[in-house]
Amino acid sequence: MSALTLPEIDAVVASARPVATDVVLLTLRAADGSELPPWQPGAHLDVEVQPGVERQYSLCGDPADRSVYQVAVLREPDGRGGSEHLHAHVREGDRLRVRGPLNHFGLHAVPPGGSYAFVAGGIGITPLLPMMRAADAAGIPFTLAYAGRSLERMPFVDELVAAYGDRVSVYTSELGHRFALSTLSGGTPSAPVAVYCCGPARMLTELEQVALDAGWPPDALHLERFEAREVTEPVRQESFEVELELSGMTLEVPPDRSILDVVEEAGVLVLSSCREGTCGTCETPVVSGEVDHRDSVLTPAEQEDNEVMMICVSRAACPRLVLEL
Ligand code: FES
Repeated sequence: MSALTLPEIDAVVASARPVATDVVLLTLRAADGSELPPWQPGAHLDVEVQPGVERQYSLCGDPADRSVYQVAVLREPDGRGGSEHLHAHVREGDRLRVRGPLNHFGLHAVPPGGSYAFVAGGIGITPLLPMMRAADAAGIPFTLAYAGRSLERMPFVDELVAAYGDRVSVYTSELGHRFALSTLSGGTPSAPVAVYCCGPARMLTELEQVALDAGWPPDALHLERFEAREVTEPVRQESFEVELELSGMTLEVPPDRSILDVVEEAGVLVLSSCREGTCGTCETPVVSGEVDHRDSVLTPAEQEDNEVMMICVSRAACPRLVLEL
């Protein structure tokens, strides 16, 4: 679904329940009682935490239950203030505007003989919860390695162990247990393993390196980032042009501005949320031209396909890009 067609929902907080230290589980209903738009495991919601301030949270409930959405929010005192505001002010019965769901972390089918390895760091467990339920319902083998600072700060540990038993391994740094990512494998051609990981940037970067060093197949590793990845200098230091095919405009993007800023200033409607390349809301189809992909959403294979780009952070690697805008 294009971001421009994402449903906007006036939601009401049906419950706000602590599920770990500094983690609250919000259950949301449509304010008018209607059925909520469908979603698949891995999807997230844009939540307007304050007027003009949106944050993205993974849906962690049951996709079959169209009456509610559930998101778990970690309070981050050193964050940008969105989670602090939700923890301090949002209570049962409050209204929240949400947009979505949008999914850039979908659970792909594995071939016969295949399995899933889920890896979570802290609050990164949330998108993996519906994935494990789906894998379990489909009878596909899986394991979960769940790492965090302490058990008190890791939501849903007890439920996971109760539901999935020895398929779940829990690692707490407080007790000196550390999960060795290097023990993971992308499997073999006859028994492929699809690895799905969500957690802190350090964990994802390390796992990318493990996959690279071990020569995993390109589609073995699937990552969900909460924080923007570190990027190097843009490929192109000079200005470039963007031709907006649908709007009939050509605009110049200087080195110190994003395509999104320039396009918005020209009065073209583009939905955006994070503006740092992590949510996928500003995804825009590319008609022609080479893109300098600088986002944290698309996989390396998707970036290579050059069919879409995140215009909040990605730039041109050529003098002129043509976009379907
Ligand atoms: S606005 Fe979030 S990726 Fe561009």
